[in-house]
Amino acid sequence: MATHNLLLLPGDGIGPEIMVEVKKVISWFNAQGGDSFETDEGLVGGSAYDAHGVAISEEDMAKAMAADAVIFGAVGGPKWDSVPYDVRPEAGLLRLRKDMELFANLRPAICYPALADASSLKKDIIEGLDILILRELTGGVYFGEPKTITDLGNGQKRAIDTQVYDTYEIERIAKAAFEFARTRNGKVTSMEKRNVMKSGVLWNEVVTATHKNGYEDVKLEHMLADAGGMQLVRWPKQFDVIVCDNLFGDMLSDVAAMLTGSLGMLPSASLGAADPKTGKRKALYEPVHGSAPDIAGTGAANPIAMIASFAMALRYSFEKVAEADMLDKAIANALAKGLRTKDIASEGTKVVGTSEMGDAIIAELNALS
Ligand code: NAI
Ligand code: MG
Repeated sequence: MATHNLLLLPGDGIGPEIMVEVKKVISWFNAQGGDSFETDEGLVGGSAYDAHGVAISEEDMAKAMAADAVIFGAVGGPKWDSVPYDVRPEAGLLRLRKDMELFANLRPAICYPALADASSLKKDIIEGLDILILRELTGGVYFGEPKTITDLGNGQKRAIDTQVYDTYEIERIAKAAFEFARTRNGKVTSMEKRNVMKSGVLWNEVVTATHKNGYEDVKLEHMLADAGGMQLVRWPKQFDVIVCDNLFGDMLSDVAAMLTGSLGMLPSASLGAADPKTGKRKALYEPVHGSAPDIAGTGAANPIAMIASFAMALRYSFEKVAEADMLDKAIANALAKGLRTKDIASEGTKVVGTSEMGDAIIAELNALS
């Protein structure tokens, strides 16, 4: 039986409050026997700044690099608005992503049956939806050089951002897409703009070549990213895994996420390259939402995005698919009983706080085991 090492980084704002609920889930799995999770805890964001004047300490960075997975809460808020740029809370998360080389950002868009009425789209369009957006996270136009604003001296300025992708960057995210598709419904849709962008031409070429090189059991389809955005809203269930660059992925994943619900419901994973010897990937799991300073300390935060992020850790870092399915089912069952935190409440549902929602999910785990 294996022991898995988790580094918990609660952060600030509602981060620590929702992390308490994940700890309940981790303890529950530990009590079932089998593989166990050993947890260590560190400071990041505002909590690290308040304690040490940094966004994350070198000691905690080293722990993150060594952990089997990092479980991250949330960081940021007006309290730290005036601190220097390189030690502001968000710098801690960016450092983690960069140093751990987390190039693959996974954002599932799943429709929980109990919330099928909550979408801005018609129920039959999103009911049963389960798609995965895979966004390249460490390259592209957000990082490419030159990146400048120049004064042209004639009353005009010129801004330049540069989209840069090398073959290896496209190849590794394409491989990840095919591998995830194999564990799902076996289909990958690659989105770019090859009609107007050279990086789109290379993206298309490398994804196609990678597919031919050992992934032909997976169905591959190419779509121009603007048409893809339209299709995501028209009939999202046609997709299984969508893979795209950093910029298109940023936008398309926000669109996909909002098909299904509230910010408080959305988990994510950021993964590094598989170690050629062990197959293990560096990984960080976090809710999509921020630190919600407006509700921090009120016990009202929705812990589901955080708990569903741990379900992603079970699925993608620890190959515990049955356990991940069970945890997702426990969340769905708690919602089906009409329990809602304030952010997802609607008529006829029962509003509960952070810790009651966590307890309800534990009760559903007990019922399922
Ligand atoms: P936010 O996601 O923190 O909050 C937006 C709105 O959604 C707020 O009204 C909040 O109360 C609500 N909300 C968010 N998560 C919720 C949850 N689990 N349960 C119930 N309601 C929830 O985004 P905002 O307000 O733009 O940013 C606040 C701070 O968080 C900023 O400093 C921002 O930079 C930071 N941030 C951090 C992220 C991270 O840690 N990965 C991601 C996004 C923002
Ligand atoms: Mg975004």
